[in-house]
Formats: sequence, structure tokens, C-alpha cells
Amino acid sequence: MKKIIVEGGHTLSGTINIGGAKNSAVALIPAAILCSGTATIFNVPQISDRTSLIEILEYLGAKVNLSEDTMTIDSTGIENKEIPEEISKKLRASYYFMGALLSKYKKVEMYFPGGCKIGERPINLHLKGFERLGAKVSVDGNKYIVEADELKGTNIYLDIASVGATINIMLAGTLANGTTIIENAAKEPEIVNVATFLNTMGAKITGAGTSEIKIEGVKKLKSSFHEVIPDRIEAGTYIIAGALMGDKLKINNIIPDHVESLTSKLSEIGVPIEIGSDYVIVSKCDKLKSANIKTLVYPGFPTDLQQPLTTLLTQCKGTSSVEETVWENRFMNVEYLNKMGANITVNDKVALIKGPTPLIGKKVVATDLRAGACLILAGLIAKGTTTIENVEHILRGYEKIIDKLSNVGAKISLEEI
Ligand code: EPU
Repeated sequence: MKKIIVEGGHTLSGTINIGGAKNSAVALIPAAILCSGTATIFNVPQISDRTSLIEILEYLGAKVNLSEDTMTIDSTGIENKEIPEEISKKLRASYYFMGALLSKYKKVEMYFPGGCKIGERPINLHLKGFERLGAKVSVDGNKYIVEADELKGTNIYLDIASVGATINIMLAGTLANGTTIIENAAKEPEIVNVATFLNTMGAKITGAGTSEIKIEGVKKLKSSFHEVIPDRIEAGTYIIAGALMGDKLKINNIIPDHVESLTSKLSEIGVPIEIGSDYVIVSKCDKLKSANIKTLVYPGFPTDLQQPLTTLLTQCKGTSSVEETVWENRFMNVEYLNKMGANITVNDKVALIKGPTPLIGKKVVATDLRAGACLILAGLIAKGTTTIENVEHILRGYEKIIDKLSNVGAKISLEEI
């Protein structure tokens, strides 16, 4: 068990370099096993979700070579076997092995995935997609068995534009016979990143990034290499840190378009922000205006930045609102922000934040990944010391967060409990 300790009140200046996107990497790694040779992925973030995926790869018999952020996966020795629950429950994205193994071997047996408890998180749309492709899905306790004599391309309409279902069906459709069309597909940049990787291996996917993705099935994929896009949520989190405590804090190696919903909201609030070709520079401003946020699928405001932004909204004058439309249980950070001195009330899907309120360092708990990020941000501005427990959630998704913040002036440390 580990805890993070933050001493508040220190200005942040200098440069934070953003790593590869967690939610891309966790799909690119399982996608790599679709090729019959070796796939190399660059810019893989150094997070614990990566370690969990390597555990699954090695359990299946892949040879993994890791050097800093470059990962080489040799899939020639892979054997299709049931993935044990102890490994699959370590992260949500283990479910991408479903689409990948089904595509390659026409059969997969694995347990319900893990991940943050931010809602029910059903995978019915993934399974419905597999069924539409001709697979039979059976459930044995906590285990799914998905198998097919043949996967046949077809039209699949997603009731919800789900990121996970879009990627999983894309993986399954890649080696299917015929053409699969995903309608009402999710449009997140991570989906484009995965489709591009599959195409470099020889897949025929068009339309990723739009609501209609076309996958012409191919027989085999070949060795290839690909780079993970910058993490827009990590970038957004540090941009908010700059808005709270920055003195020309530079957030570097980003795709500014991917964080536009955040940067335009920050400008509206009154945060001084300069947007460059692959960076933003952000500074603290003492007169912030309240704002209303509604989380939406991309390119709308990302649910994954809602909790970090709430910390900033506690410093805005007036009443701000955050409406969460993606997850049912993503306000668990509020209890702890209030403990630190915030004035937030939650009614169903809407949080109302009255500000500005000074925050005071307290002992708090990271209930999930982004709630943890929200509390670190709160610790940066709080008077005194904030101790955050349950930080394993944070380490699953933010690479070298202690180093990155310390390097720009934060007083933050990670300690064993
Ligand atoms: N949904 C269903 N059925 C399904 C799939 C999804 O009802 O079969 C619902 C979900 O319950 C949710 C909505 O559809 O209400 C959207 O879920 P989606 O499938 O898009 O989410 P996901 O793929 O499980 C990914 C990210 C999340 C991020 C969401 C939304 C990964 C590994 N996770 O989750 O990231 O919040 O997309 O953008 O890519 C995080 O990084 O902190 C995180 C939770």
C-alpha cells in the first residue's frame, strides 16, 4: 500500500513532457497479438496497467521486450488459453484480449475485467458485436466463453458510442471474412490510433474518427511498428495544475486539438493560456469565473477530466456546475474535496460547486484514477499537507507523476504505508 503526500502552495514552472496515452496503449498492446510476427510500439507510458498487460501477454506465451517506453511483442509462440481472473481483473482493458483472441483463434475464454468502480460498466455492446459477427457467447459464473466457427463481417449499430466496444469490434472484425461496418462508432483519438496501427499491420480499416468505421476483413496481419499518441487526459490534468499553480508552466508534446474542449473552457473561466503547435503554456490567475461543464463523448468535454477540473472550479467565483453523462458513479471525489473545504453538492448527475473556497490539507482517499488526480491537484493548492491513500489507482494511469510534478516545483512524494 502506498500514499502520496503533497505540500500545498508551491508555484509550478518549467516543462512537463506528456507520455503516451494510457487508453490507446492498453488497446494497442492486445492488438499487437493479431500479427503473426513482431510488433513494436513506441511511446508506451510507464504505468502499472502496462505491467498488467505484459503479464497477460507473457502468460499467453508472447515474448515481450521492454526498453523505457518502447515495447516489442513477439507473438509467434502464443497459445490461446483461458486468461485467469487474478490477471484480467487488474485492469479494465484486459477485455481487448477478447476481440484480439476471438479474431485470431475464433475462441476466447476470459473473466469479467476490472478497473475503476465508476459505474456498472457492462460489456453487453462488445458481446452483442461479437454475436453479430457470428460468435456464440456463453457465461459461466464470472467467465465469458466466446467462440465462432467463422467470423462474418456485417453491419453493427452501437446503441451507445462506446470506446471499448468500438475498439473490440474493430479487433474482431479485422480478421473476419467480409466487411464489418460499425455505425454510431465512438470517435475518440485513441480509436484512430488503434485503427492506424492495425492498418500498418495490413488491416483494411477506414473511417476511424468518424461515426462509421468500415473494416474489410483480411486473412493475416504482418509485423509492424507504431507510436502511441500523447495522453490527452494526462495533458489536461497538468494543464489544470498550471491553471491552479502555474507560472508559465509548459505542457509539452501534446496534440492541442485533442484538449480543445478543456483549453476553450479554461479561456472562458479566465485562465491565461497560450496554445502552440505541440504545447500549451498556462499560468495561474486569481480572478476566475464560474463555468458549466457537461461530459460528452469526443469531441465533447471528456468525463476523464471532469474530476480534475472540479478542483479548479472550487477556485472560481460563483456557482459552477458539472453534469456527468457517461458514468453513474463519478463524483466520489466530492466527499474528499468537501473535507478539504470545498462547497459542493451533488444531485444525481449534477454537481454544483460554490466558490471560491480555500482548501486545507487533509487525509483523503483516491477512490478511482481521476478522483486521485483531482485530489493531487487539490493538494497542490491546499494550505498545509494533503495525504492521499489508495494511490494504486493513480499509478495505474499517470506515468512518473511524482517526478513530473516535482521537476516543476511541486512538493510531492510517494511513500509506503
Ligand atoms: N456501456 C454500456 N455497454 C457496453 C459498453 C459501454 O452500456 O457494452 C456504457 C458504459 O457503461 C458507459 C458508456 O457506455 O456509461 C461509455 O462507456 P465506454 O465503453 O465508452 O467506456 P470504456 O471503453 O469502458 C473508456 C476509457 C475510460 C473513459 C471512457 C469514456 C479505457 C480503458 N477506458 O472506457 O477511461 O472514461 O472510455 O471516454 O479506454 C479513465 O481513463 O479514467 C477511464 C475510465
